[in-house]
Amino acid sequence: MRVLVTGGAGYIGSHTLVELLTEGHEAFVFDNLSNGHEEALSRVKQLANKDFGFVKGDIRDGEALDKAFLEFKPEAVIHFAGLKAVGESVEQPLAYYENNVAGSVELLKAMGAHDCKKIVFSSSATVYGTPQYLPLDEDHPVSPVNPYGQTKLMVENILKDWAQDGRSATALRYFNPVGAHVSGRIGEDPHDIPNNLMPYIAQVAIGKREALQIFGDDYETRDGTGERDYIHVTDLANAHIAALGTMNEAAGFSVYNVGTGQGTTVKELLAAYGETVGQELPFETVQRRSGDVASSVASPKKANEALNWSATLSVHDATSSSWNWQAQNPDGYAQ
Ligand code: NAD
Ligand code: WQD
Repeated sequence: MRVLVTGGAGYIGSHTLVELLTEGHEAFVFDNLSNGHEEALSRVKQLANKDFGFVKGDIRDGEALDKAFLEFKPEAVIHFAGLKAVGESVEQPLAYYENNVAGSVELLKAMGAHDCKKIVFSSSATVYGTPQYLPLDEDHPVSPVNPYGQTKLMVENILKDWAQDGRSATALRYFNPVGAHVSGRIGEDPHDIPNNLMPYIAQVAIGKREALQIFGDDYETRDGTGERDYIHVTDLANAHIAALGTMNEAAGFSVYNVGTGQGTTVKELLAAYGETVGQELPFETVQRRSGDVASSVASPKKANEALNWSATLSVHDATSSSWNWQAQNPDGYAQ
């Protein structure tokens, strides 16, 4: 299939590109590089041993989208482009509504103008808000607690209205994506101090940060630290390809959790990373981070059954691939 990948120069987009190209699809990347890396695209080409087009453009720019659609004539879109930092979304909500919601509307308009009828969208488990029960299935009520989560839910709702008359949309609600490509050539390269746990631990392991601050050890979990469902980025990438395969004129709108079904606590993840690098990693316990929940674990049953997809990689696969990437590229994509 000919697939336009918005946000393809980012963390999840670059890993998905490798799998897409390896599976024999053709790709074209549309990314404004606000948080992505052109170097990631060069490395994807080497890993997949296949070329693809790239346009530096913004999804809020209808003309740039039009040009890209005219040039590439995609049959489907995988839509990763957007802003993703929860804290920043509280400080700058309009930037989030503009990039994530208005940008997605521009993209759907371009798809309409160029008769492109399939889209896979990066949603997030954050749409569930505070869990009322675990594991979270797709019927769990949605109630996002920050502007970032609101933008994901709004786009899901827009897609639900859009996906008719032969158009189909699949929203994938990612749990906590972690790890890197097995080669260590591509991985997560946060522009600032990492907000998320795994890239922070990676920087402690390489000596860039002194110690992990554990945000609270008084939650109702096995060891008092927050529990999450960490999904390996390569498994996540493959969920997109599985989703593309199920979309047809009658498919309409679908939503799937993408997780493993297994919870791992902060202390367990830190210990697993320590085992990978062969030494215990330093930490200090600090106050809870506002907005955090005790546990978030997926029921991936719907995706397992309907997409014939399931996670195959473990937390140890994630820590070892993350470390492989971090050790080979201590400064990320910066040469
Ligand atoms: P990322 O920041 O690495 O990738 C996003 C890419 O989109 C970047 O390359 C960035 O340059 C590009 N981009 C941003 N705004 C754009 C715009 N207006 N026009 C064109 N390009 C733009 O993030 P990621 O972790 O790869 O996340 C990809 C998607 O998955 C995002 O939509 C994110 O919200 C969603 N998601 C991520 C996580 C996570 O923890 N990483 C979890 C759930 C959902
Ligand atoms: C995981 C656990 C923290 C950092 C976020 C977004 C979510 C989604 C994924 C986009 C929690 C603890 C963390 C640190 C710590 N993104 N922690 N010290 O908060 O589950 O999800 O990323 O859609 O929307 O909210 O992920 O990696 O930040 O935290 O103790 O320095 O690690 O308290 O228990 P989170 P995270």
